[in-house]
Amino acid sequence: MDKFLIRGPVRLEGEVPVSGAKNSALPALAACLLTREPVTLERIPRVRDIATMKSLLGTIGARVETDGGAVRVEAKEISQPEAPYQLVKTMRASSLVLGPLLARCGRARVSMPGGCAIGARPINLHTSGLELLGARVTQSHGYIEAEAPQGLRGAVVHFDRITVTGTEDLLMAATLARGETLLENAAREPEVKDLADLLGRMGARIEGAGASTIRIQGVDWLHGAEHTIIPDRIEAGTFLIAGAITGGDVLVTGCQPEHLQALIVKLRQGGAEVQQQGAAALRVRGARAPRSADMTTEEHPGFPTDLQAQYMALMTQAEGISIITETIFENRFMHALELTRMGANIRIEGRQAIVAGPRKLSGAQVIASDLRASASLVLAAMVAEGESTIDRVYHIDRGYERIEAKLAQVGANIQRTE
Ligand code: EPU
Repeated sequence: MDKFLIRGPVRLEGEVPVSGAKNSALPALAACLLTREPVTLERIPRVRDIATMKSLLGTIGARVETDGGAVRVEAKEISQPEAPYQLVKTMRASSLVLGPLLARCGRARVSMPGGCAIGARPINLHTSGLELLGARVTQSHGYIEAEAPQGLRGAVVHFDRITVTGTEDLLMAATLARGETLLENAAREPEVKDLADLLGRMGARIEGAGASTIRIQGVDWLHGAEHTIIPDRIEAGTFLIAGAITGGDVLVTGCQPEHLQALIVKLRQGGAEVQQQGAAALRVRGARAPRSADMTTEEHPGFPTDLQAQYMALMTQAEGISIITETIFENRFMHALELTRMGANIRIEGRQAIVAGPRKLSGAQVIASDLRASASLVLAAMVAEGESTIDRVYHIDRGYERIEAKLAQVGANIQRTE
């Protein structure tokens, strides 16, 4: 298993580019199942979750070709409308094929996701939405089986709570349903809007994506298209926090600043200078003595849960007490214990983490528990005195493209070893 060896403290300086968004690329790849014609997606990040999704499309019967950052998917025939346990257990987003398969083939079989390091993460809102569209959903042998032999029909789906992949699954299914579908209390994440843009290029009729009510007029068929994935706002945010925590001066290029507003506000409250440079770059200059600022995760446009762990690393270096409240997932504080092993002062009380800073961190052996937790440990290790070893970096490889190379380019002392 790969590890990272990181030596600190360092001050990051220079330019770092952002890759395509993993959480946009995943539903975009699933959407390719909605048409017999080829779909070409540009700016697909080279990360492990994408490799998993490509294997999944392959087992379903699609031809998948990769050419640099472009992926071409041709799902002429669907030979097996199924997401097997072997793949779903490594990536919960595999459930994104449920809606497209059901819409295209009238049936789908998807393994139920098991436990997850960050919370329960059920997919009941996906299945109850599909039932409203006319599917019959049953569960047996650890699989969800959905059938709609007569095809799906439009309906009003009001989500009990906001779900990102649930909204995406229903959005894809509704494109081929008969009549109109209204998705209410839909997720407003930029990744949902990006998916709707791709579906629009494929011939879908969608209004309101990016707002909380999305209206879809079903069509008989969708056609091939070309689409470029939006930049990864979580990767960009991680680099901005890296600049801030190291007191550095980092230009994050190829990002979409309007997707990062909630983080920018917090970075400025903490004393960092953040400036937009042109349409697609942000420059961060870290404060000499960062200040604490409370933060609560929320659905977009609030502060993303996917940056909570990284923000916590920053707050260990800030003067004062900061209260970090996690409202999206019930168990997303695993990194706090590892940060404490490096010398941070963090107390967890239910859904809140109380961080007292600044604390001098010292290098230690720590274990990555999930994707974003690993990123937070990398950030902490860059300011800790001495050497840190971060074990199980396969978690970070799920969603960050060559993070060690990108950070080394701006001055981090980081190596991958076995
Ligand atoms: N939920 C339910 N029932 C459902 C679906 C969700 O109760 O049927 C609950 C979840 O348990 C959670 C909340 O609703 O408490 C929100 O979950 P959501 O469905 O929005 O999460 P997701 O779609 O499974 C996506 C991202 C996550 C990101 C969350 C929240 C992808 C592939 N994944 O997950 O990304 O944290 O939205 O923004 O888009 C990551 O990249 O590290 C990651 C975990």
